[in-house]
Amino acid sequence: MNPPMKIRLVPPAERYRESFLRGLREFQHEGLPWWFGGGLETAEQDFAAFVAKKLADSNRRDESFVPKTHLWAVTEEQFVGRLSIHHELNDALRVVGGHIGYDTVPSFRGRGVATEMLRQALPVARALGLTEALLTCDDTNPASIRVIERNGGSLRETKTIDPDKPPKRYYWITLS
Ligand SMILES: CC(C)(COP(=O)(O)OP(=O)(O)OC[C@H]1O[C@@H](n2cnc3c(N)ncnc32)[C@H](O)[C@@H]1OP(=O)(O)O)[C@@H](O)C(=O)NCCC(=O)NCCS
Repeated sequence: MNPPMKIRLVPPAERYRESFLRGLREFQHEGLPWWFGGGLETAEQDFAAFVAKKLADSNRRDESFVPKTHLWAVTEEQFVGRLSIHHELNDALRVVGGHIGYDTVPSFRGRGVATEMLRQALPVARALGLTEALLTCDDTNPASIRVIERNGGSLRETKTIDPDKPPKRYYWITLS
């Protein structure tokens, strides 16, 4: 077992370009990221624009999009994970996605990154005005279940949304 990593949550920034693209390649290799919203090529070609778009998401709103704050986990200035906070829920997020979602770069997993990302994100969510946060996760994702429960998540319900997919767990975390 690797020792736990010390991480900081930071806003997306151009200086993480190399390690972010490396992490993205790892995510793509395993089929993620559904959250990326654009190809690796786009980020490679114009990382500044990519970062600007991520930052602008916190003020973007349309029929299917609610404002969203992106945060990156870095250790020694290297990107090791990402987390995002939806400032509010819409009908789709109430079913899948919730307020907060995260992924750890595969080669940095099992070292406490996600547990620490979520711990550091909770006061940020509070500062955004949330008093409680919904987190949804697959019933078959023990690592994510552990991350949420270690951060005070309380299981409200487990539901099957799609018979071909694992049931979803719905956790709420009270923000103080
Ligand atoms: C879920 C995920 C974010 C966890 O990231 P991580 O940085 O490895 O998490 P941590 O190191 O903080 O580990 C959290 C806990 O899960 C446990 N864990 C890790 N992998 C596990 C596994 N495959 N099976 C069971 N437990 C596991 C760890 O031991 C740790 O428990 P502990 O606190 O008792 O030691 C990561 O696996 C990931 O990015 N998965 C793909 C995307 C995803 O599922 N995102 C979440 C969607 S809800």
